[in-house]
Amino acid sequence: MEKNKKEKMKAFNDIISLCKRRGFVFPSSDIYDGFTAIYDYGPYGVLLENNIKETWWKEMTRANDNIVGLDSAIFMNPKVWEASGHVSGFSDPLTECRKCNSRLRQDTLLEDAGVFADEKMSEDEINYIFEKNIDKIKCPVCGAQDFTPGKKFNLLVQSNLGNFSSNWQKNPSYLRGETCQGIYVNYKNVLDSSRVKIPFGIAQIGKAFRNEITARQFIFRTREFEQMEMQYFIKPNDDEKVFNEWKEKRYNFYLNLGFSEKNLRWHKHENLVFYAKAAYDIEYNFPFGFKEMEGIHARGDYDLTQHSKFSGKKLDYLDPKTNERFIPHVIETSCGVGRIFLATLTEAYKEEEIKEGEKRIVLKFPKKLAPIKIAIFPLLKNKEELVSKAKEIYNSLKMDWKCEFDDNGNIGKRYRRQDEIGTPYCLTIDFDTLEKDEVTIRDRDTMEQEKVSVSDLKKYFSEKFL
Ligand code: GAP
Repeated sequence: MEKNKKEKMKAFNDIISLCKRRGFVFPSSDIYDGFTAIYDYGPYGVLLENNIKETWWKEMTRANDNIVGLDSAIFMNPKVWEASGHVSGFSDPLTECRKCNSRLRQDTLLEDAGVFADEKMSEDEINYIFEKNIDKIKCPVCGAQDFTPGKKFNLLVQSNLGNFSSNWQKNPSYLRGETCQGIYVNYKNVLDSSRVKIPFGIAQIGKAFRNEITARQFIFRTREFEQMEMQYFIKPNDDEKVFNEWKEKRYNFYLNLGFSEKNLRWHKHENLVFYAKAAYDIEYNFPFGFKEMEGIHARGDYDLTQHSKFSGKKLDYLDPKTNERFIPHVIETSCGVGRIFLATLTEAYKEEEIKEGEKRIVLKFPKKLAPIKIAIFPLLKNKEELVSKAKEIYNSLKMDWKCEFDDNGNIGKRYRRQDEIGTPYCLTIDFDTLEKDEVTIRDRDTMEQEKVSVSDLKKYFSEKFL
């Protein structure tokens, strides 16, 4: 492994262990040795996750007057998934290593060998490319080069919800494989119940489930995950213009979150599904390389046409100005909360030498994403006046910003701990506070300290967290 790659993988392992040590992410059912490809978000993780979701939600539904929100159910009538094409076509090419019996994705094995493949290719197409390149392909688990012929494996997760027969597999319901189908099937409800007019968007955040064959890379590819999707309904013929507008907006979203431009890039899909007019991914430079973080897709009128056909309901739109009737086209933006979470951690994670022989780990989150905004310390834990003054200040700030009170260990240790969870400001109550009503505020990034009077704290932090 080249040196740079080795260092990146070490940093990745350090991030994974920090996530557990500091309560960001835990393996699911940890006391039972986990459950493959499922993770839980701990006390700081849920705060970071909520901040990411809130930033996206505001960007969609407040910055844009014509985007409304939705929270549709995870379960839907199974016909939804027939109409969408998921029952027949939502599959990945699966092969098995004949030596160690690992189940693997053919397209990922080809990609790792530097050969282009797409999960949307037919079984025959991908088997053909696989055989042609077999010399280059190795099992990542045991290194063997002997595989079973590939078969398409459907990713929809089945359930017996509401079906009490022992034969329920014949008529399963599904845990949704993507959140956008809940948007399409509510398009008419939203149109009829609110005053939206084309162009308009519907945004939704929610869980999705996929029976991923190879779940690797921590929270990057999981079987239960959360999506933030927005479907923008437009006039036919506006696809290209609106698609380009959303491409630009979504790229800028990441730049505004403080992601460095060198870690972002576009990937254009060459092998489009038949109905798609264009599809681009925003890729992030994860420790294991550039991978998809968000997809932006021009889906034409495919989704509404399919749902209209399968439900027998009219899903067209009457333009009040021109009296024209048409099935709206859709531009979709779709990203995974877990992937943005991992990219945010990757971007923020730094190991720094603070003086000779002394290092610190610090998460330099953008302030608006930091789980804890202000940590409040009494200088000494056993001085009652300091502790009660610190509690008073903590109580006066905690409803405006997420604060944490900490009187454990010495100040140096408390700084290290707050650095590791990315708290932008640490505020210490010392004897000057009692005498002059001043506290010491230490900045996470510069580690510089300044004195601020207690009566100015709200103004001070309002400016810092603008
Ligand atoms: N509605 C379109 C759609 O679902 P997708 O490319 O399959 O498109 C969109 O998924 C986004 O959802 C991806 O860019 C990724 O951020 C996230 N995502 C997809 N599968 C995931 C998985 N197994 N684990 C975590 N995130 C996933």
